[in-house]
Amino acid sequence: MNSKQQVVSALAAVLPDTMTAAEIEAKIERPKSDGNGDFAFPTFFLAKELHQAPQLIAQGLLAQIDQSNFEQVVVAGPYINFFLDKTQVGATILNEILNDPNSYGSSDLGNGGKVPIDMSSPNIAKPMSMGHLRSTVIGNALANILTKVNYQPVKINHLGDWGTQFGKLMAAYKMWGSEAEVKADPINTLQKYYVRFHQEDKENPALDDDARAWFKKLEDGDEEATELWKWFRSESLKLFMKIYDLLDIQFDSFNGEAFYNDKMTEVVKMLEDKHLLQESKGAEIVDLDKYDLNPALIKKTDGATLYITRDLAAAIYRKRTYDFVQSLYVVGNEQQNHFKQLKAVLKELGFDWSDDIHHIQFGLITQGGRKLSTREGRVILLENVLDDAIKLARKQIDEKNPELAHADEVAKAVGVGAVVFHDLKNERRNNFDFDLAEVVRFEGETGPYVQYAHARAESILRKAGQPDLTAVDKSISDPGVWKVIKALGQFKDVIQRAAREYEPSVVAKYAIQLSKDFNQYYAHSKILVEDDEKMARLALVQAVSDVLKSSLALLGVKAPDEM
Ligand code: ARG
Repeated sequence: MNSKQQVVSALAAVLPDTMTAAEIEAKIERPKSDGNGDFAFPTFFLAKELHQAPQLIAQGLLAQIDQSNFEQVVVAGPYINFFLDKTQVGATILNEILNDPNSYGSSDLGNGGKVPIDMSSPNIAKPMSMGHLRSTVIGNALANILTKVNYQPVKINHLGDWGTQFGKLMAAYKMWGSEAEVKADPINTLQKYYVRFHQEDKENPALDDDARAWFKKLEDGDEEATELWKWFRSESLKLFMKIYDLLDIQFDSFNGEAFYNDKMTEVVKMLEDKHLLQESKGAEIVDLDKYDLNPALIKKTDGATLYITRDLAAAIYRKRTYDFVQSLYVVGNEQQNHFKQLKAVLKELGFDWSDDIHHIQFGLITQGGRKLSTREGRVILLENVLDDAIKLARKQIDEKNPELAHADEVAKAVGVGAVVFHDLKNERRNNFDFDLAEVVRFEGETGPYVQYAHARAESILRKAGQPDLTAVDKSISDPGVWKVIKALGQFKDVIQRAAREYEPSVVAKYAIQLSKDFNQYYAHSKILVEDDEKMARLALVQAVSDVLKSSLALLGVKAPDEM
């Protein structure tokens, strides 16, 4: 029985029979200050029925309540405040964790429902940006969190591998390209051709016709165009995979925009059948006036389809393929309008499930408080960020723990983990500033700080000889452990909140708080001293280690045992 249930059953025994356990549970509050106990039961709502002042009701109930399972039960005005028997509650929580550390914190909000998560989705022939990194790590953390509450996420990398820009790229490659140059440094070279194309087409508009012709060829399945496209795509993908490997993130699908090429006629037909398509200056649009949105541009004058056309096809495909209960798109704030349009058009098509589509927005990464800008030279290159973070982690490890075995592996876990954690500890909608030295610090509210707390717990357990703790008595009388225990007991609620709000920062903040509470406890008590409660204290240390490790795992961050 968990501690809240203890309160419910104590109350159920003395309240009118008309109140069910669920009704009682719903009334129970958590007092803001510890001085008012662990749970509080307000009596206002009974006043009418019992014709009595709430204060008197509270006193009357208190006199009948069986208090034997609690440290104390007191009346404060109209409230009955319950103080749990901390030793007993603590032992229960520790037993629950140590019995099955992997499933601790799990629950069943999702009933196994499928949830496609559109995440990462960088564009072929362009470098992966910090924004794509955000999408990747937020999407991955959400997938882990949703799994823990029993949804089945499907991680989809909706690669930007289609669109008129490929026409430009092909036209540029045919004019100035060299195979060897592309092979040596694919993304930068293709990017260079693309930039040059844009410079030259200002003077020479014929280039644009050329590009349009190439894209048309591609859409029509022309062999040369298709070969080039395949080659650009695979070269780009190789570099993206390096980053995914570093992050240790896997996808269930790489169906990018191109995958929907043959699925768009059907969408356009659906729109026509519902009389939703209108002609506007030769292009085809869906009017979204009644949603207070700009019209959605479905087909250009030359018949080429657009980003949103492909997203319509993708949304329908995902509904058919996965029969999802929710469909998430982890994409920056700046595409808010696009996703509003997408949902509105699906609604117009009569798909009620458009309400299950959620744009999981996130903010920008700034540097020195300013937006990144390619033009002004304020760019952050993703591969460099991760490599630099690993180097910086290595430097600090060499200073703190020069004898550490597997230092390379640990530096990778700490450096990459630091970048990921820093991203996730900020509420996703907010912009945040990126300063590598700050991100990889071992103190303060950082990933390495949490990893360090976990490693410290593991080192205590090693010193104690890794005893088997499953069966030991886990009662600890020291009131100093209560804060840590209470935090451990909140893990499930924390994960559920993160899942409901699509907010990994809830888990990251929790991990920081648990680390702080544990470090505070550790600073004031001698865990390894030989007395009756030594084993119980070690069980606490084991539980902290397990829950920190699980928290980090939910965020996609590794927890080395030593660092
Ligand atoms: N490739 C796009 C970009 O980099 C993101 C795609 C997001 N996903 C989607 N289904 N539209 O901006």
